Amino acid sequence: MKRIAVITSGGDCPGMNAAIRSVVRTAISKGLEVYGIEQGYKGMIEGKFKKLESKDVANIIQRGGTFLRSARSERFKTEDGQKEAIKNLERFNIDALIVIGGDGSLRGANVLCKKYGVKVVGIPGSIDNDIYGTDMSIGVDTALNTIIRCIDSINDTASSHDRTFLIEVMGRNCGYLALMSAIAGGAEAVLIPEVPYNIERIIEKIKRRYEEGKTRSIIIVAEGVGSAYDFGKVFGMIGGFETRITVLGHLQRGGSPTVFDRTLATRMGAFAVEVLFDGACGDMVALQKTKMELVKLDEVLLKRKELDPTLLEIAEMLSN
Ligand code: ADP
Ligand code: F6P
Repeated sequence: MKRIAVITSGGDCPGMNAAIRSVVRTAISKGLEVYGIEQGYKGMIEGKFKKLESKDVANIIQRGGTFLRSARSERFKTEDGQKEAIKNLERFNIDALIVIGGDGSLRGANVLCKKYGVKVVGIPGSIDNDIYGTDMSIGVDTALNTIIRCIDSINDTASSHDRTFLIEVMGRNCGYLALMSAIAGGAEAVLIPEVPYNIERIIEKIKRRYEEGKTRSIIIVAEGVGSAYDFGKVFGMIGGFETRITVLGHLQRGGSPTVFDRTLATRMGAFAVEVLFDGACGDMVALQKTKMELVKLDEVLLKRKELDPTLLEIAEMLSN
């Protein structure tokens, strides 16, 4: 193995730069050449390869986003697109590839490995924390800290006006961000796709809380259950509360990565390069308890990551 390439693909997340930096510097220290491919699989198809030196990744560990840029590529899902990408990997003499991205990007990585024999290792990067096999993905901690800052701010104005706020958070079909931010933000209720909810019960609870003297209510809505605007209408109409809606949107994906994400990304990047030397292929690096481990992409993509039931119990208990 002489030359490896690295891409960031799918939804970006804070910590991707830290992961690229770690891959580049670990690889160079082990005598490898490293190429960065711009814009994920799109750039792989279009031949956007550039050699990366140690200085190219200076001063990026603290920056959100990804300096290699990211993209979603429908064409890469087709055989025609994949063959074009393979041609470019061969043209640039790439011996192995590291893919940093979410569930979809890892699916693409597995296709390259299984169908075309490319030596690939994946690094889980997505704010959603929906990737099986790893306790945490890169970007999750930063996104949660961003959400919590927003909830705290909304709390101030909500308390001043005795209002009920519905705050919609990202996560695609996964309720992790919603659940954790509800716990850490002291919300009255959380709506997530994994657990059936009863709107009437939540309304009763909020009424009771107001009667007990509470001056505001915060309800966290995971985007996977629907629009906070739609739920807001129901809470306003049936509950009679003065309701306001905040959709946090893409601000959850940006910002300087936390210490946790910088160190997780750095460990994962270094580990990904090391395991390539040990012959890893079709694997994903993962954080399990406190250690770096390898999980087969086949298993990652087959299984669904479950929410910890004790966290669900805690959220319910503490909001009562
Ligand atoms: P994320 O990686 O954040 O989950 P996406 O689901 O959009 O984001 O996936 C990113 C890219 O990965 C897609 O645009 C596509 O190029 C590639 N990809 C996703 N699923 C597949 C698949 N089944 N086969 C090949 N490539 C895929
Ligand atoms: O997967 C990360 C994520 O931010 C999801 O939480 C969200 O549903 C989606 O990406 C948004 O995608 P886009 O950036 O294409 O709007």
